[in-house]
Amino acid sequence: MSHTLYPLKKQRLQRSELAVPASNPTMIDKAANGPADYVFLDLEDAVAPPEKEQARKNAIQALNDIDWAAKGKTVSVRINGLDTHYMYRDVVDVMEQAGDRVHTLLVPKVGVPGDLYMVDAMVNQIEMAKGFSTRVGLEALIETALGMANVEAIAQFGGRLEALHFGVADFAASMRARTVNIGGLNPDYPGDQWHAAIARMVTACRAYGLRPIDGPFGDFSDPEGYKAGARRAAALGCEGKWAIHLSQVTFANEVFSPTEAEVTKARRIIEELRAAEAQGKGAASLDGKMIDAASEKMARNVLVVADAISAK
Ligand code: GLV
Ligand code: MG
Repeated sequence: MSHTLYPLKKQRLQRSELAVPASNPTMIDKAANGPADYVFLDLEDAVAPPEKEQARKNAIQALNDIDWAAKGKTVSVRINGLDTHYMYRDVVDVMEQAGDRVHTLLVPKVGVPGDLYMVDAMVNQIEMAKGFSTRVGLEALIETALGMANVEAIAQFGGRLEALHFGVADFAASMRARTVNIGGLNPDYPGDQWHAAIARMVTACRAYGLRPIDGPFGDFSDPEGYKAGARRAAALGCEGKWAIHLSQVTFANEVFSPTEAEVTKARRIIEELRAAEAQGKGAASLDGKMIDAASEKMARNVLVVADAISAK
């Protein structure tokens, strides 16, 4: 192990992250009472320009009226991008009026670490001015070629940054990839055309102690496509995936939860290794397969998620 270590900045259960346009209060209520681990109130791309101001007000009201934590949820607000004229007021209004109620701000289309610096400086000032004892977290959407080209530098931002998300729709647009299908596979490509990008983002996250989260899958009438995408993301190390429809939340919770068999196996791995250790051995065998200290780390990863789910 290197002498340089970046432990996970913040453990949060984020198997499913439901995107809710803040312009729609009915959807906000449904989201609050649904099974998602995480809900983000969207002020950005799901909200049309004439509705931006009302959406901001709705988000603030939902943060103040609903006890999201008591409902077992983390609540986030996706602010508008730094290239718009909405962003500064999103940060000022949401933070001044509900900065001690919102858990994280999701910053879209982050291209360089300086984008996070600006948001961070603003929330620092507002939290100080308001005398909040809470500290809002930051999450960044990696969804442009620039953001992906700088993902390792962005991941090292430090401070409040706790997660990166892969925004496949904007990423496809930014790359001019040949698709108009959000998150679906392109049959012309032998495999998953997003593999390299997600793997790169996950590596940057794991190197610097952030949670990697996979973004949307647009076709909500294709549960199998959604689940397959979620399983691919989980295989690479993502902790969860967005849902753009309530029905997708259940699938995400299912895919990103360890099964009972996985939990039992994880416990058995640890037991066997303890028994081997007592006999002065570092490795052991379980069900005909070699296990060693790395197996214990993998097993503990499973148990951390299982414990977080039981604590929910
Ligand atoms: C999410 O914002 C995406 O662009 O996929
Ligand atoms: Mg986007």
